[in-house]
Amino acid sequence: MRHMMSPLDLTVEELDDLLHLASDIEKNPDKYAHACDRKKLATCFYEPSTRTRLSFEAAMQNLGGSVLGFSSADSSSAAKGESVSDTIRVISCYADICAIRHPKEGAALVASSKSGIPVINAGDGGHQHPTQTLTDLMTIHSLKGRLSDLTIGLCGDLKFGRTVHSLIHALIRYPNIKFVLISPEELRIPSYIRQDVLEKHKIPFVEMERLEDAMPDLDILYMTRVQKERFFNEEDYVRMKDFYILTKEKLALAKEDMLVLHPLPRVNEISVEVDDDPRAVYFKQVQYGVYIRMALILTLLKWKEEP
Ligand code: NCD
Repeated sequence: MRHMMSPLDLTVEELDDLLHLASDIEKNPDKYAHACDRKKLATCFYEPSTRTRLSFEAAMQNLGGSVLGFSSADSSSAAKGESVSDTIRVISCYADICAIRHPKEGAALVASSKSGIPVINAGDGGHQHPTQTLTDLMTIHSLKGRLSDLTIGLCGDLKFGRTVHSLIHALIRYPNIKFVLISPEELRIPSYIRQDVLEKHKIPFVEMERLEDAMPDLDILYMTRVQKERFFNEEDYVRMKDFYILTKEKLALAKEDMLVLHPLPRVNEISVEVDDDPRAVYFKQVQYGVYIRMALILTLLKWKEEP
């Protein structure tokens, strides 16, 4: 049985198939309206979420399936001290597939090792967030027409931002990708990604602090929120939180066809005046997130049923 822990759990070919299926779902939603009749998705969220949980739920409902689960650790038996491993064994008796979000890195992997049903990592601490990455890839592929030959600026909290970590892992498999890593010194990309992923695979990248300096070269600008909940003290967070604010003036330095993505939630890092610019695609990105999650649920359930 296959699970989805990291974007690397899929080969490039499997990822292509998934993107293809998601765009067919986008064009012909009715064709899939009963594809998961009588199937159940469990959403086990030990950490806050709006988009990810609700987009999983919308995805399953669009496929004709139903949803059960919990949206905080306090409202589950975790509050009584139950382990993730035990919870997933129980959930396996109730549902056909599960999406789990947990503040601890590796929690989804632990769950998958004890699970009787496919497990999707919906975010594990500051580690990975593969379904956000699938969403990002679908957005780029649909709006740019390619996943190769791109200069991608990743801006903000590159240290704790799991969406950034997953996106880098996924994109290095495509030809001619360059990264511009834009962050304050304190929030630079972790060395396990700089060395073990970027340098090891000889992927061109530069690190810089000023967004304005990076802007003219970028095909994609991926903005991120400073991850308040992963800071050890409030003072450091307050110092970092408004380090980047994308304004109309800064966007004027960008290419005409650059795209601005953001996994959301946005705090202050993109000024609302940017929302009307055609290059701002973060709300379209949310819609792609539903199609790609539909494609993922269908694919994992199909693989489960195959002998
Ligand atoms: C992201 C996350 O949870 O990592 N949100 C999301 O799933 N869309 C990004 C964030 O919280 O900043």
